[in-house]
Amino acid sequence: MRSIRHYLCLATLVAKVTCDAVVDGKLSFYTSSWESWDENVARWSAYEAPTFSAIFKPETEGELSQGIEYLARHKIPYLATKPGGHGNVPTLGTYQNVVQINLDNFRHAVVNPDHSITIGGGAKMVDLIPTLHAAGREMTVGSFPCVGVHGVMLGGGMGRLMGRYGLISDALLRAKVALWNGTIIEASEKVNSDMFWGLRGAGHNLGVVVESTYKTWPDEGGLHYNADMVFTDDSVHGVVETARNIIEAGLDPSLFLILGYVYGAEAKKPLLIVNIVYAHDEEEGRKMAQRFASSPKDATNPITRLSFRETNMDFSELGSGKAIPGVCDVNLKNTLYTASTPTLFDADAMKAVYESFGSFVREHPGANRSILLFEAASGQAMESLPQDYSAYAHRGKMTTNAIIQATWDEDLDGSVANAANAWGKGARDLLAKPEVSGYDKLYAYVNYANKDEPLAALYGYDKEHQQRLTSLKQKYDPHAFFNAYRPLPLEISGWDLPASSKASQSDRDEL
Ligand SMILES: Cc1cc2nc3c(=O)[nH]c(=O)nc-3n(C[C@H](O)[C@H](O)[C@H](O)COP(=O)(O)OP(=O)(O)OC[C@H]3O[C@@H](n4cnc5c(N)ncnc54)[C@H](O)[C@@H]3O)c2cc1C
Ligand SMILES: *[C@@H]1O[C@H](CO)[C@@H](O)[C@H](O)[C@H]1NC(C)=O
Ligand SMILES: *[C@@H]1O[C@H](CO)[C@@H](O)[C@H](O)[C@H]1NC(C)=O
Repeated sequence: MRSIRHYLCLATLVAKVTCDAVVDGKLSFYTSSWESWDENVARWSAYEAPTFSAIFKPETEGELSQGIEYLARHKIPYLATKPGGHGNVPTLGTYQNVVQINLDNFRHAVVNPDHSITIGGGAKMVDLIPTLHAAGREMTVGSFPCVGVHGVMLGGGMGRLMGRYGLISDALLRAKVALWNGTIIEASEKVNSDMFWGLRGAGHNLGVVVESTYKTWPDEGGLHYNADMVFTDDSVHGVVETARNIIEAGLDPSLFLILGYVYGAEAKKPLLIVNIVYAHDEEEGRKMAQRFASSPKDATNPITRLSFRETNMDFSELGSGKAIPGVCDVNLKNTLYTASTPTLFDADAMKAVYESFGSFVREHPGANRSILLFEAASGQAMESLPQDYSAYAHRGKMTTNAIIQATWDEDLDGSVANAANAWGKGARDLLAKPEVSGYDKLYAYVNYANKDEPLAALYGYDKEHQQRLTSLKQKYDPHAFFNAYRPLPLEISGWDLPASSKASQSDRDEL
């Protein structure tokens, strides 16, 4: 593939500017000598991450369109993102020395007269949440301010209020999308409804969202109850069984339950944590937290609660990420694996994974920021919509998602990465076993995925659904420009190929 520099310097001849800030017509591209280069190419995860040859940072929609058209015409690969992008599926790492389409100038958030909210393609949760809160509205949002709204939404979009309002993408009303060649189209139920369908679940594959608009709900007032608890490690069975009883009885749509393993610096072993958020109802929330109180020592599966902290949060604090400090740090290395279950995973397997987590970190102390979360929410709002409402394939199915996240920094010989992947994959494979998950096959949320899951596990096992996605890919991304994020196959036969042999960037050479 020819490099961007080749084109930039070619353009230089015409535009008579230096090679570092090349202009072709009105378009400018930054190269690595730009003083703000490092902060613009920083990523949440530096492991198997994309790298950039130049940054294109449009200020207007027109410029964005022209820039994409220019890159496509010259067959130069590109990736739309922004400083500190949180995408971490390893296929992103197949994009090396591509042009970054930097969406940092598109972070607006505006509440419309009909109470819908319109946000720019580069908006992060921190741009969306306070604006909504100030307008007395709410919707499903992520829990951390630093995460890009679109990266999240395009894969479905989970968050604490999803039991009430469904996925973030379920609230999408319309979007403006730049296609691979720079042409900008509208997508909604009325126009380009095929694109509108695909954006909500497989959207990383189809274009660059310039702007999108969502339905919102009135903030009914009253704070959200939040409880953070820590337990001794001999409480795993007791806590898991309590969580299972709550989940099997049918989760209240207002409840979001997280069971997690974090590493205890002093104890040198994992700590078991639980976080409960109960939307707008302190009393119900407290009742729920009470179920995790310490039990008598002679109970079959005893619970010993070491700490218990209650707070009441407003909507904006719900997304402030206070619960887990350091989550927004950039340039650490991360590898994620995931599996889901209709209820909760088998208790013995959850205990085994707890132990393997401890062994992994004891052997690799530099990975002590690793974390394993089991997040549970009611599927009620999601299931109230038809199965084929959007491209999101696992509607109502993923009651609990396991997020297995190994995080490390120094790794001189690659041994930590190897161990991290071995641990993560092993934990995922155990949790995904039919007798552990209750599913005969793997169901995985694309936004927490790695690279080895079958595409069907991410985007759906149904053949008609797969055909629909492949047709969309053929129509809207025929030259595979948007192949960084677990790419959809351009041929139906691609659904049955093993994950590792998927074509990615190379498709574009035939353009
Ligand atoms: C700390 C943390 C918290 C998270 N919290 C949640 C959560 O609460 N809920 C949840 O569902 N997921 C969550 N995730 C997972 C998250 O959905 C993915 O990591 C997602 O890819 C992040 O998107 P981004 O926009 O920040 O990343 P980026 O790296 O910028 O983008 C990821 C992908 O999306 C594409 N993309 C980004 N913007 C656009 C756009 N405007 N148009 C078209 N394509 C675009 C990029 O090209 C890239 O392929 C979290 C991840 C982390 C690391
Ligand atoms: C992780 O290790 C570092 C360096 O040894 C230490 O400073 C830090 O407290 C540890 N953190 C945790 C969560 O164990
Ligand atoms: C841009 O791409 C789309 C989708 O492939 C196509 O339908 C459209 O005709 C193209 N526009 C131009 C101007 O070539």
